[in-house]
Amino acid sequence: MRNIYLDNAATSPVFPEVIDSISKSLQSDYGNPSSLHRLGIQSEKKIRRAGQLISNTLGIESGQIIFTSGGTEANNMAIIGAALARQRQGRHLITTLIEHPSVLRTFEFLEEQAFEVTYLPVDERGLVCLDRLKEAIRKDTILVSIMHVNNEIGSIQPIREIGQAIKAINRDIVFHVDAVQSFGRLDLSPRDCQIDLLTASGHKIHGPKGIGFLYKKADIRLRPIIFGGGQQDDLRSGTENLSGIVGLEKAVEMINQKKKECPNKLYNLKDLLLTQIKKELAQAVFPVDPTLTAPHIISIAFPGLLGEVILHALEEENVYVGTGSACSGRRRQQSHVLKAVGLDSRAIEAAIRVSTSYMTSQEDIKDFVTILKNVVKRLERFSRR
Ligand SMILES: Cc1ncc(COP(=O)(O)O)c(C=O)c1O
Repeated sequence: MRNIYLDNAATSPVFPEVIDSISKSLQSDYGNPSSLHRLGIQSEKKIRRAGQLISNTLGIESGQIIFTSGGTEANNMAIIGAALARQRQGRHLITTLIEHPSVLRTFEFLEEQAFEVTYLPVDERGLVCLDRLKEAIRKDTILVSIMHVNNEIGSIQPIREIGQAIKAINRDIVFHVDAVQSFGRLDLSPRDCQIDLLTASGHKIHGPKGIGFLYKKADIRLRPIIFGGGQQDDLRSGTENLSGIVGLEKAVEMINQKKKECPNKLYNLKDLLLTQIKKELAQAVFPVDPTLTAPHIISIAFPGLLGEVILHALEEENVYVGTGSACSGRRRQQSHVLKAVGLDSRAIEAAIRVSTSYMTSQEDIKDFVTILKNVVKRLERFSRR
């Protein structure tokens, strides 16, 4: 029986073309990008070419793409780097309660270094309130970090309005956006949204794991968090992961092509999923209004059943979904995101996360709903005993 993989917000299968380009790069691009000879220059050119494609995709003309080991490192680099670079101007930072742990844990670290952090709440749709944000900004605020799409519930923050609001109050406040879940799926223009720093990751867009980037606007200063040979303009020392960068470049190229060929693909899958669920599983509830969320992430709950039990029962049928975020999923902590949107413990534990990708088909969705219906029916029979 084939796998039906619907856990793409955790990670996505690698495009075959990406595997091919990585394999070729490993064979031919063995020169160190810092070496002065021809092989080194060839490697360095490939890094520049990848940076250029990402810049074009983001619609930016200047600024820098700094390659990192993924979204986690890019978030750490952005938040710690900007806070340390601007600490003389102030020590107040703002973020939200529903960020990914790579953001939340980084802010906790900065609190230990005598920075003060305001954690903005969200409403039942998983959205921050612009007025609350404006009220939270102080004279000593130096950085605001707000994610674009939430990895558990798919809520989409109004990044353009947020950027405008921040910069209208104080142009010098650095605005960082964790776009790991939205890059390649939803358009986001750093220029129009006044974003200074933007994080993305390769493995969420059918690229390899262990590669990502931070976009940095030209005039933004960062204190590096990794020291060594001074690669990438001293911002991220360490020999670059060239095959990872080449794989990421290919993934971006493929995604751009797929978006052009079939711009509504993810929305169509979501519509089909919602229609089928409503038709076949009347008992399903949606912790956040699914019509407002990102096209690829849908949180569904079955009151009285445990999400984790559903996940394992589906796994028996070669169907893969998620519960909370991949990172906290195995630590058996209750989702801080579902808590922040106001769900009680029972409701939190009932949720599963279904996430699609450009490799998901309409058949996958139809078969998934049929299998889910049988699984839920069986589990409900058990739970009534
Ligand atoms: C919103 C968000 N930010 C950051 C990350 C971390 O990215 P990476 O796995 O590349 O370190 C993830 C991964 O799940 C994520 O969903």
